[in-house]
Amino acid sequence: MHVHQLTAENFKRLQLITITFPPGGGTFEIAGANSVGKTSAIDAVFAALGGKDASPEQPIRAGQRSGRVVLELGEYRVTREWDARGTRLTVTGADGARVGSPQTLLDGLFARLAFDPLDFTRQGGRAQAETLRRVAGLDFAELDRRRAGAFAERTDVNRAVRRQEAVVAELPEVAETAEIDRVGLSARLSTASRHNVQLEQALGYVKSRREDAEDAEDEVAALERKLEQARARRDQRRAVAEQAAAALAQLGPEIDTAPILEEIAEIDQTNRRARAYRERRAATEQLRANRAHAEELTLDLDRIDAERARLLAEAPMPVAGLSLDGDTVTFGGVPFAQASAAEQVRVSLAIAAALNPRLRLVVIREGSLLDGASLRLVAAWAQEHDYQVLVERVADSTLGPGVVIEEGRVKDQAPAEAAGRLFA
Ligand SMILES: Nc1ncnc2c1ncn2[C@@H]1O[C@H](COP(=O)(O)OP(=O)(O)O)[C@@H](O)[C@H]1O
Ligand SMILES: [Mg+2]
Repeated sequence: MHVHQLTAENFKRLQLITITFPPGGGTFEIAGANSVGKTSAIDAVFAALGGKDASPEQPIRAGQRSGRVVLELGEYRVTREWDARGTRLTVTGADGARVGSPQTLLDGLFARLAFDPLDFTRQGGRAQAETLRRVAGLDFAELDRRRAGAFAERTDVNRAVRRQEAVVAELPEVAETAEIDRVGLSARLSTASRHNVQLEQALGYVKSRREDAEDAEDEVAALERKLEQARARRDQRRAVAEQAAAALAQLGPEIDTAPILEEIAEIDQTNRRARAYRERRAATEQLRANRAHAEELTLDLDRIDAERARLLAEAPMPVAGLSLDGDTVTFGGVPFAQASAAEQVRVSLAIAAALNPRLRLVVIREGSLLDGASLRLVAAWAQEHDYQVLVERVADSTLGPGVVIEEGRVKDQAPAEAAGRLFA
C-alpha cells in the first residue's frame, strides 16, 4: 500500500498543497528553498498517520482557526483535522463508510519506527542496539539477569574462599587423633571417693569411742561407788569399740586416686588433639567446597556468554554483516557510526524493510546531505522493494519525480517519467 495523494491545508507552514504521487515504489523529492514548507509537508503525513502525540505543538498555520491533512491510500482515506478543541481523525474505506477505531487501523498499517529510517543512523548506540534487537527479535533480558546473578554470587563465594583460607591458615596442623571415652573411669573415681569418705567417718568414730572408754576409766578411779556400774559400762563400751574396729577391718585399705587422675589428664590431652584435628579437617573441607562452587559459577558464566553468542549468530539480521557487540550495533565488524554514509543509508533502509509495514512509505528528512550516488542508491532500493521514499532536499528543482514548494504551496510537480533523470 502506498500514499496516492496528500492534501494539506493550513498545516504549519503550508497554505494549501495537493501532491499526487506516481504509482508504485520510488523516490519522490520534496524540494524548495529554506523555510518554504518542505518539512511541513513530511510532518503532515506523519501527523496524519501517527496518532495524537505525532502532532506538532502548533499544527495550525498562524492566523488560521483550523488545519487539515487528507491522505488517499487507495483502500482508505485518512483525514486529520485540528481546531481550537484539538484533533480529530477520520478514516473511511473505499465505499466511503467510516472505520471504527481508526487509529488502531493506522497503527497496523504504519511502522512509526521506520518512518524516517535515517533516524536510526542518528540514534545513540544504545537506542540503535535496542531497535536492532526489536527488528531481529532478540531479547537478552533473561540472559543478562542470569549473568548478573551468577556474577554477583561468584563474587560473594570468592570472598568466602579468601575468608576460609585465612581461617584454615590460623588453625594448627594436628595428626589424626580419636577421642577416648572416660565415663567408666569417672564412675570408678566417684566410687573410690565415696568409699574413702566412709572410711574416714569410721576412723573418727573408732577414735572417739576409745576416748569414751578412757573417760570411763577415769570415772572408775574417781567414782568407786559407781565402780560396778562403770565397769559394766566400760565392758559394754569396749565391746562396741571392738565391733566398730571389726567393721573398720571389713572396709579394707585406702585406695590411691593419683593414677586415676593421671589417666584422666592424659585422656583430656588426647581429646583436645582430636578436636583440633576435626576442626581443621572441617575447615579444609569447607575451603574445597567453596573453590568448587566458584569454579561452577565460572562455567555458568561461560555457558551464558556462549548462549548469547549463539542467539546473536542465529538471529535473522535484516542485512548481512549487521551484528551487535553488547550495546553497539556493528556493520562489517566496525561500529555502525563508523560505516560509510552509503552503508548507513543501505542498512537503515533494510531495517525499515524488515519492519515490513503494510503502508510502504519512508521519508528522508536530510536528503540534502545525500550525494548523487547515495540518492541513486535510495532510488534503486525504493524501486526494488516497492517503497515510496519522500526525500526532502533544499534545491530549486528536482533531480527525479517530486515537487518544488514555494511559500507553502506547490510551485511545480515533476512527473513520474523524471525518475529516468536520476540514473542518467
Ligand atoms: N504553525 C505555524 N504557522 C506558521 N508558520 C509556521 C508554523 N510552524 C512553522 N512555521 C514556520 O515554517 C517555517 C519552517 O517550515 P518548514 O516546513 O520546516 O520549512 P523547510 O523544511 O522548507 O525549511 C519556519 O519559518 C517556521 O517559522
Ligand atoms: Mg526542512
